[in-house]
Amino acid sequence: MTFTVETKKPAEYPCEALLVGVYEGEKGLSKEAQTLDKILGGTLSRALSAEEFKGKPGTATAFHTQGRIPAQAAVVVGLGKKDKLTLPVLRMASAAGMAKARALGAKKVAVALMDEAVRGAGGAGAGDKAQVIVEGGLLGTYQFLKYKSEKDKKAIEEVALLLTKPAERGKAQAGTAKGEIIGEAVNFARDLVSEPAASLTPTLLAEEARKVAREAGLKIKVMEKAEVEKLGMGAFLGVSLGSDQPPKFIVLSYEPERQRARRKIALVGKGLTFDSGGISLKPAGGMETMKCDMAGSAAVLATMRALGKLKPRVSVLGLVAATENMPSGRATKPGDVVRAMNGKTIEVVNTDAEGRLTLADALCYAVKEKVDEAIDIATLTGACVVALGKVQMGVFANDEGLRRRVMDAAKRAGEGAWHLPLNEDLKEAMKSDIADMKNTGKAGEAGATMAGLFLQEFVGSTPWVHLDIAGPAFIDRETPLSPKGATGVGVRTFLYYLMGI
Ligand code: BES
Ligand code: MN
Ligand code: ZN
Repeated sequence: MTFTVETKKPAEYPCEALLVGVYEGEKGLSKEAQTLDKILGGTLSRALSAEEFKGKPGTATAFHTQGRIPAQAAVVVGLGKKDKLTLPVLRMASAAGMAKARALGAKKVAVALMDEAVRGAGGAGAGDKAQVIVEGGLLGTYQFLKYKSEKDKKAIEEVALLLTKPAERGKAQAGTAKGEIIGEAVNFARDLVSEPAASLTPTLLAEEARKVAREAGLKIKVMEKAEVEKLGMGAFLGVSLGSDQPPKFIVLSYEPERQRARRKIALVGKGLTFDSGGISLKPAGGMETMKCDMAGSAAVLATMRALGKLKPRVSVLGLVAATENMPSGRATKPGDVVRAMNGKTIEVVNTDAEGRLTLADALCYAVKEKVDEAIDIATLTGACVVALGKVQMGVFANDEGLRRRVMDAAKRAGEGAWHLPLNEDLKEAMKSDIADMKNTGKAGEAGATMAGLFLQEFVGSTPWVHLDIAGPAFIDRETPLSPKGATGVGVRTFLYYLMGI
């Protein structure tokens, strides 16, 4: 899918599908839709009232134009309430419209949404609008077809963003370029998560990280078991013992060119390429989708890849402790004690609470690298899914400022995020009789917080945010921005955050 910016009138532009907007409520047709409606002799407004199209964000409907304009079909997208149009709404509208256009079989699509007034500080400019429209287009039409023998061949090839103000061209083009990088990054994360665990092993994940480094001009170091042992990462290694696949500790690093970095940030992604639960084996139903347990690491790899192109003024370390969690004669047994890199001992009472063990050592590594901030992202707890469902990630933090900045980025990125507490009183439940701590608290009590409190033991005084994406990483029904399955959650939040520094 390629994107261009054209200063041409929607009513004169030849294409197979033309995206225009309608607002919810009395205000009705958007600015650009009104112009079009006049040319179409009012068919648009008449058809809309008959269809009872409500104009809600994320909905779209299509009409054939009967040859009255060069566009074969008008794809009408909901923009929600006129005075509430924000960039996230525009992103969603574009996604829904492009999905509709694709379903119609359109190869050449034009977008007449650039003239709508978007709310925001001083109103959003052409750059921001172009960016979210392009993001939406790439996100809303994503499919994972690698293993389908009969592929859905419908694909949009060209998208033209139509501008009425030629002066906005430069900004719109810059926004388009950013949108492409971001949209492609999210889809790359989706590809990684969708890949079955049989092929996406820790070794393959490390290979993918090497490719990312090559393509984006990043430094990379992949540490093998022996080196990980030397670093004292006993918690991470304990998780890997039951697997026939060797663990890998991946360190990617991005540095700004010719400029001093404003700060150094670690992004730590949970990289369980498969989580069977280990000896504390999961039931079949709970295991079915556990190839998604590396979604955090996919978000980190995808973010790192985009950084090489977006070039923000920060140093970023991308860290992944990649392994499988499998049962075997060599696996860690409930009751075993492991020692993390910072010297703390952990009684592993439940081998299915493995993510926190791998993250503990990765966070210790980040602290040793003297980062200014650490953000981890992990499909960490079923409890977080119970608390928040599938549309929001849980956000935990030891630093209020960092938490606010990350949550603000999530909002702009259009990713749901909700602040959850790290109540110190609950730590009591993780006391062990024989080690410094256990790896779980009491079943059924504040599971997501407990995992957060566990991780906090390994970050020292480094400002830190933990994102629990167990809910939104892998979904069982489509949304305007994502098909069923892997969503690539976190990539946009990271990129919006890092670009804002
Ligand atoms: N990978 C799972 C969490 C998960 C659950 C991710 C559902 C995606 C969807 C994690 O390793 C896990 O098994 N957590 C346990 C922790 C418990 C044993 C304390 C859980 O949530 O049940
Ligand atoms: Mn688990
Ligand atoms: Zn897991």
